[in-house]
Parts: sequence; C-alpha cells; structure tokens
Amino acid sequence: EPLERSGVWRFRELLPFAPDEKIVSIGEGQTPLHPSVGVAAYVGMNPGRMLLQYEGMNPSGSFKDNGMTAAFTHAHMIGAQRAACASTGNTSASLALYCGMSRLMQAVIFIGSGKISYGKLSQALDYGALTMQITGDFDDAMQRVREVSKRLGIYLVNSVNPFRLEGQKTIMLRVLESLNWQMPDWICVPGGNLGNSSSFGKAFHELHKLGLIDRMPRIAIINAAGADTLYELYEKRGLRWNDGAPDTKIIDGYYAELDAASERADTIASAIEINRPVNLMKCLRALQCTGGVVREVTDQQILDAKSQVAANGLGCEPASAASVAGAKMLREEGVIDPDEQVVCVLTGHQLKDPTATVAYHSSDQNEFNRVLGSRGVNTATYANR
Ligand code: F0G
Repeated sequence: EPLERSGVWRFRELLPFAPDEKIVSIGEGQTPLHPSVGVAAYVGMNPGRMLLQYEGMNPSGSFKDNGMTAAFTHAHMIGAQRAACASTGNTSASLALYCGMSRLMQAVIFIGSGKISYGKLSQALDYGALTMQITGDFDDAMQRVREVSKRLGIYLVNSVNPFRLEGQKTIMLRVLESLNWQMPDWICVPGGNLGNSSSFGKAFHELHKLGLIDRMPRIAIINAAGADTLYELYEKRGLRWNDGAPDTKIIDGYYAELDAASERADTIASAIEINRPVNLMKCLRALQCTGGVVREVTDQQILDAKSQVAANGLGCEPASAASVAGAKMLREEGVIDPDEQVVCVLTGHQLKDPTATVAYHSSDQNEFNRVLGSRGVNTATYANR
C-alpha cells in the first residue's frame, strides 16, 4: 500500500521512528468523520454540533489498526518473529490481520475464557493466529501475556507498547484535518485499557508544542459502569497526574479493595471489560493536559445509545456507543453546552458483536433474558422501541 493512502503514515513526520521501506501498512485509518443530526438530537446538541469519527471502517473493523500498523512496523524493524497480545478481541483481530497479510510474524493471542465476542474470535482464528483462551478475564490475560512475552522474547503489541500510541495519535490528526484544523470543544472516547485517550492527549500536547494549535479540546473518557476504575479513581477519589507525581497510594488502595472483594470487571461492552487499565498513568497525564473529565455509563445507556447511532446509519459495537452515552450524560449535566462542537469516537464496527444487538431488538423474551436478563437492562426499553 502506498504510504500516502494510509491514514496513519501520511502523518509520519509526527511519528518519525521508521524508515519508509520498513513500514507495514494495509490501508489503515481511511476513516470518515460523519456529522449526524439525528445523534445530535439524541444527545441534546444543536444540529451540526455532533460528529462521529467512525473507526469501525478500518481493515480489521476497529481503531486498533491505527496503532497496530505502528507497533507491527517496529516489531518488523527489530526482526521479531512472533508478536503477542492479550485482548478483548479487537487488538487480537488487528494483530492477526497484520500477521496474515504480511506473513512476517506469527501472532500469539491470549483471550480471557468466554470474554470475547464471536465476531472478534472468528477473525483471530480465520487470519491464522495461535489463539488461546485462558482461565480468567482480560486483566488476567494481560498479566499472563506480559510474563510470557518477557520470558520467551515475544514482541508485545498491547498498548503498553508506546508505538501503538504513536499510531493512534493520528485518529485525532484526521479529526482535525476533517475540520480544517478548527479545534472541536470535546472529544468523547470509551475508556478500557486507556490507550486511545492517552494517545489523543499526546497528539494534542505535541501539536501544541509545535505551535500548530493554540487550544486543546477537552477529552471525556467514558467507562462502562461495570468496569469503572478510571471513573472511581479520577472522579471519586481525586487521583490526578499532578505534574508527574500522582498519589499512587490511591491506586494501590483501590486495587487492594478490588482484590479483597474478588471484584472483576463486568459489562455487556466486552471490549472495555477491564479493571486494571495499563495506561492509567499516561491517561491521567492526558486528562491534566486537556482539562478532561471521566464518566461512567450503564449497560442500558450503552445499548440505548448504540441503537440510536445505528438508527442514524452508523453501526458500532457496544463499547463504542459508550462515547455517545457519555456525551448525552455530560450534556444533561450541563457540562457540555448544546452549541459546543463534540466529536465522539466510534471505536469498533457493528458486526464485531451482534449477540447483544440481536437480543436487544428481539421480541423473544427468552432470547432477551438469555443475553441481557442478568445485566439490569430494562426489558421495557426494547418493548418501547
Ligand atoms: N472500544 C473498542 C471497540 C475496543 O476494542 C477497546 C479496547 C476500547 C474501546 C478501549 O480502548 O483500551 O484504548 O481504552 N479493546 C482492547 C482489545 C482492550 O483487546 O481489543 P482503550
């Protein structure tokens, strides 16, 4: 693929670590910024003030390709033969695709058992990745893959890898490009492992330092209520980056509480079902840099937002819709003004995770209950649709 066609590498002056001939690109990042009058109305914004950055249109169907092309390129530069990740499904789909397409490396994937949608699992298997479901959830898989990759010298592509974040910066560069470099007021993004939000903060910080922008948007990071570590730490317990000296006792204390209660992340938005985000520190920095806020939204709010986004022609997976549900919440609180410019990032495609969608729309009560019954999602909501 010519580098100018990549939505990541045509900005390579801003991620200058790879010689052109080493770059592995499969046409990632050719994603549109869609205005939506219907979603604006749902969120409570004035027409034209709600834009959706549709990262589901990437080759593997999620924003991960923006980061994977960069990490994979770096792995190739240093001669890696194998690359590994833990994943809730999108990172693994992306890694598997880059391995399959380039045939440069073997993909090794750790999935928390049962903690992945079939759409995503099928991608890893079909692209030929060595795919292992391990006992436990994403947080367990993440810990395991860090140990294993270190011990065996396997290249790790999770977003602890700084090159991933370099690639993901370009999502914001493309947003700005689409807006003719007019700065939006808000960027709303789902928060899972917090790689995206960290990379967005880095992008704006660097553009500011280079004198290319004179103000920052505010970043709103939206957790699922069942996986709300950042919300708890930042909004409830007052954890701050504090110019590089965050009070780590707050974090340790919270994790000790989670352990004592054997509490695991739990949300229908399986992509962000994460309690121990690896980019917590970097994300705190992004929040400080941009005057950001964090909110949590319920599974109900996520699925309601998702169906509204789709009814306006943009299909996304549950986790992605957290951004829209969060924007609506901030609008209702009066934190976001209806005349401000809001960009919500739709991180993954609708077809990634059809199970919840079908159940949500199902008129079969048994089907609804099977998937959503234990999740506190109100059956009346679907009946009203
Ligand atoms: N949205 C989707 C669709 C995701 O797949 C993820 C993360 C996120 C949001 C959260 O992004 O980690 O940068 O805060 N998925 C990872 C995975 C964990 O393994 O695919 P983040």
